[in-house]
Amino acid sequence: MIPLISKLPNVGTTIFSVMSQLASESNAINLSQGFPDFESSPLLINLVNQQMIEGNNQYAPMPGLLALRQSIAAKVNQLHLSDYNPETEVTVTAGGTQAIFTALSAVIQPNDEVIIFEPAYDCYSPTIKLLGGIVKAFELSPPDYKIDWEMVKKLINNRTRMIILNSPHNPSGVILDEEDIRQLIHITAHSDLLILSDEVYEHIIFDGNKHLSIARYPELRDRSFIIASFGKLFHNTGWKVGYCIAPQWLMNEFRKIHQFIVFSVNTPMQHALASFLSDKNNYQGLSEFYQQKRNFFTGLMKETRFDLLPCKGSYFQSVTYKQITDEKDIDFAKRLTTEFGVASIPVSAFYSRANDHHVLRFCFAKKQETLEKAVERLRKV
Ligand SMILES: Cc1ncc(COP(=O)(O)O)c(C=O)c1O
Repeated sequence: MIPLISKLPNVGTTIFSVMSQLASESNAINLSQGFPDFESSPLLINLVNQQMIEGNNQYAPMPGLLALRQSIAAKVNQLHLSDYNPETEVTVTAGGTQAIFTALSAVIQPNDEVIIFEPAYDCYSPTIKLLGGIVKAFELSPPDYKIDWEMVKKLINNRTRMIILNSPHNPSGVILDEEDIRQLIHITAHSDLLILSDEVYEHIIFDGNKHLSIARYPELRDRSFIIASFGKLFHNTGWKVGYCIAPQWLMNEFRKIHQFIVFSVNTPMQHALASFLSDKNNYQGLSEFYQQKRNFFTGLMKETRFDLLPCKGSYFQSVTYKQITDEKDIDFAKRLTTEFGVASIPVSAFYSRANDHHVLRFCFAKKQETLEKAVERLRKV
């Protein structure tokens, strides 16, 4: 055996792969991983096909097709009244994941500290560690997962390089409000702190709430990478196309790394997305679409013994299960899959320390009949 020192010795297979695999072995309804079980727009699919047939099958420009970057900048301007230069401040990526990896790689030096809020999406922490950075996890708790900014302040010292935010939040479905933003502006003013704002669920926000993109606040925008995903916006997570917007001084560094990770992202999808995104009817209404799904799912779930946690955005509904069992969430999630045929994600997997609040996350980006069938099974629990 050739000796090999793992760069991520404590990282195994992600919980998403574990639960999806168990779901498929158990023939369970998979409400674990976050992807829709319905199709993307036929118009968008046709546009991609057309681009392939017309011969747009070679490398795209390194930062992305200019037409797509222009559509992105126009959307950000229209929604958040913020100007990003498509030439220098927008880069198309292979999904949100690559954008996050690239942004962190561009700025995190060994021993830099990065504050993340847990439960946290699973790629932040391993990426920081891979770069030699130090994860400073701030733990949030159900039911409201509220950030105590006074406590956050105490985590900040002269080694703190970055704060990672995610709103709407996966897995909890909570969103940042005006007070959070005010606190964030206050904490970062007169500091060298950078921000990575993961906004992949920006278009999925409920009950009349507004997505407070970091792009709206000049004080924050000028120190931030903002990450987005077309997979979440247009129901095609498998296409893996997303983007990053950032002020030019950060984007310059981002692109230096981006060019050596992927060089560029697949061309026909970029052409198709450029024209699809330029019509705002193609993305407005997503919140209503998913709010209807959330209401349908939660309406049915009220007939079960699960307790629903608030969900203000994203396509995830978290539940507690005190009335049912005191099993660990991972054990219960596995048993729900194998015995009752519904797969979920145990939220303890989103914490780096053992932290089991007995919460499961269900993805409701599913057809009505899938949700109906799933809850029919959950009623028996
Ligand atoms: C919070 C969050 N960030 C980033 C991503 C990754 O997005 P993509 O699939 O575009 O890589 C996801 C996907 O589930 C996510 O939930």
